[in-house]
Amino acid sequence: MLAVKGLEKSFSAKGDVVRAVDDVTFEVAEGEMLVLLGPSGCGKTTVLRCIAGHETAQGGSIRLGGEAVFDAAGGMDQPPERRRIGMVFQNYALWPHLTVQRNLEFPLRARRMKAELAAGEAVHQAARLVDCVPYLQRFPGELSGGQQQRVALARGLVAKPRFMLFDEPLSNLDALLRAQVRHDLHELHRTVGFSGIYVTHDQSEAFALGDRLAIMRAGRIEQIGTPQEIYGRPLTEYAANFVGLSNRLVFDPAGAGRWSLQGGSGREVPVVTREASDSLTLRFRPHDVDLLPATTTAYDGLVLEGRVVDSVYEGRHYDLSVTAGSATLNVHAAAPEGARFGPGDPVRIGLRWHIGSWFGDGRRVEVAARAETTST
Ligand SMILES: Nc1ncnc2c1ncn2[C@@H]1O[C@H](COP(=O)(O)OP(=O)(O)OP(=O)(O)O)[C@@H](O)[C@H]1O
Ligand SMILES: [Mg+2]
Repeated sequence: MLAVKGLEKSFSAKGDVVRAVDDVTFEVAEGEMLVLLGPSGCGKTTVLRCIAGHETAQGGSIRLGGEAVFDAAGGMDQPPERRRIGMVFQNYALWPHLTVQRNLEFPLRARRMKAELAAGEAVHQAARLVDCVPYLQRFPGELSGGQQQRVALARGLVAKPRFMLFDEPLSNLDALLRAQVRHDLHELHRTVGFSGIYVTHDQSEAFALGDRLAIMRAGRIEQIGTPQEIYGRPLTEYAANFVGLSNRLVFDPAGAGRWSLQGGSGREVPVVTREASDSLTLRFRPHDVDLLPATTTAYDGLVLEGRVVDSVYEGRHYDLSVTAGSATLNVHAAAPEGARFGPGDPVRIGLRWHIGSWFGDGRRVEVAARAETTST
């Protein structure tokens, strides 16, 4: 449906050149929603603006439904209104002096879709989709934030665009409304079946809406894949951090393919790898950890000695902040029978061998971790 190839966009600002989009290539299939995920300033909005035609890239090409809409080499750059792309942006900016009805008609007027305007069916259909028929005659100022957001969604869809662009469309909503509109949007995507790109900072939003995710970093796509692929096998530490692998342990080489926890007690950890690296990093999630009884003698994984910094008891689970070596870890795990954890208490934590992802110099490495009995 969409094919972006070798896209390049630089801005010059006060003598500095910013490479906002740096050799970006990806495709979006018919009916697919691709989520762009990345920190502020990494180029997400610029990619969308180039696709919409509001920004002219310096290099690369963009094809939509098999038709070239932009080609730097061929000097072709179709104007935005001819690309038939729907957009919903963060500042959804409904026209305050126009009724909801007139707001919804706006994209049809802009595209000179006279027949659709006269019939009125397109507007009603879009309004029905997001449940805003009852307030078609109201002004935006007479609607709640969530209702305005839904009108903005309808406005994005009303001209039956062949492609949708969403730029953090929910970020102005409070948590509850966000969840509700996110759900509506997911339903809409399922029923209407449009293809599109959705930009967000928010990991849970990315997972809820994305058929595939593209993780962006400084103008480039770092990794692209299904949520399962990126969650299960992040190729870089940067990508790992974006899908919730927020705990980080660093190991220094201890000779003969063995490694020891940085700042730890000095006891080696039986990790075996053929990778040559100055250090190894293990990334994992708070709930990947086991809390072990102090008497554990055998555990099929890494065993670390730590100390509790902060502890919240949650009934079935503890939420702990733990120092282990030079690292501070967040742990969310069930406590062993009868165990209690308060600040300053020693704690033993276990990580099964298959848990988490290992990195050397920021890139994924395969570590043949050894199942070894750890003695106390
Ligand atoms: N018109 C412009 N002139 C100069 N620099 C720009 C312009 N637009 C964007 N940039 C720069 O390009 C880079 C990418 O900006 P962009 O808006 O695409 O980031 P983003 O990923 O959407 O960020 P955010 O999450 O904050 O919205 C930034 O460094 C930004 O300062
Ligand atoms: Mg942006």
